[in-house]
Amino acid sequence: MKTTLTVIKADVGGFTGHSDVHPKLIESAQKSLESGKKKGIILDYHVAKSGDDLELIMTHTRGTDSKEVHELAWDTFVGATAIAKDLKLYGAGQDLLADAFSGNIKGMGPGCAELEFEERKSEPILVFMMDKTDPGAFNLPVFKMFADPFNTAGLTIDPTMINGFRFEVWDVYENKRIMLDTPEELYTLLSLIGTKSKYVIKRVYPRAGNKVPENEAVAAVSTDKLHLIAGEYVGKDDPVAIVRCQSGLPSQGEVLEPFAFPHLVAGWMRGSHNGPLMPVGQKNSMTTRFDGPTRVVGLGFQIANGKLVGPADLLGDIAFDNARKKALEIADYMRRHGPFEPHRLSAEEMEYTSMPKVMEKIKERFEKI
Ligand code: 13P
Ligand code: 13P
Ligand code: MG
Ligand code: MG
Repeated sequence: MKTTLTVIKADVGGFTGHSDVHPKLIESAQKSLESGKKKGIILDYHVAKSGDDLELIMTHTRGTDSKEVHELAWDTFVGATAIAKDLKLYGAGQDLLADAFSGNIKGMGPGCAELEFEERKSEPILVFMMDKTDPGAFNLPVFKMFADPFNTAGLTIDPTMINGFRFEVWDVYENKRIMLDTPEELYTLLSLIGTKSKYVIKRVYPRAGNKVPENEAVAAVSTDKLHLIAGEYVGKDDPVAIVRCQSGLPSQGEVLEPFAFPHLVAGWMRGSHNGPLMPVGQKNSMTTRFDGPTRVVGLGFQIANGKLVGPADLLGDIAFDNARKKALEIADYMRRHGPFEPHRLSAEEMEYTSMPKVMEKIKERFEKI
């Protein structure tokens, strides 16, 4: 019997502004998932938050893209939205871009990452949840976990990892994908995923010789782009990722290691600025300064016969204190640029924010020179 871990998230209203999730929304989501568990739709669940995003972490045996599981998540968000509207929370129902559920949550606004697998003797899995950024923010850390020997010692020490990993990369604008094998196609992979607004890592697979079968993805990232669905700026995508660890895969510590470097990502204020990605514990996920800085929460679970044992609030540990401090220094530095690039996103990326509406207003006033 295979287990599926599904993480589905949405911003259904911020408390206050775009900063946090109100406790009543968490409570409402817990009740909804508890009833889904009683009905046998899911085996177990954990409700988390990252900034203003409500995060549903669920286990079941229905495989990826299960209509029942996606519908449970949708109904959970609809229920929480009703409360958000009562409390007049900011942007109530922000990410629910469709009127009614239509079979699969993809393309309806919420973000989704899923992995189906045969549970190993021990199954440690990490769930990463970011607020105020887009899916490309996962490119650098996921690349480091599975392809950088300076990050992941196992790539050079563990005989079952020495053949490397296969990356599934999506072009999110053209709806195309490419499979690239590392280490031999490392440079080609980097030439694509360095352009993180367009090319995003969707999944990672083990290669021959690993203990995990080649067709079983070991990492998955939500790649849902809100502006491509809505046709205008409605908030940032705020992606999630699931990563399996240990026994032929990067160890938990190797999966966490990339977050010790607060790299620059797109998002932050109005989804229009580059800034550092700050690792935080669950209780510090609230975004404040300039609606940020962009944050990532990392929760660990041991999966035991479909049950979620956890969470362990891994990125909240003191080992990431220096990364937080560095992130705050970078935030100071970047902020001093005000409206100037490269703090503000490039003109090309600003096309997907509210900027085109400003340009529309003045376009007639440009004269030939
Ligand atoms: P243990 O020997 O404690 O299992 O640790 C192995 C390992 O993978 C450390 O990263
Ligand atoms: P969210 O995408 O987290 O709702 O943030 C939107 C925003 O504009 C923050 O300034
Ligand atoms: Mg919001
Ligand atoms: Mg958000």
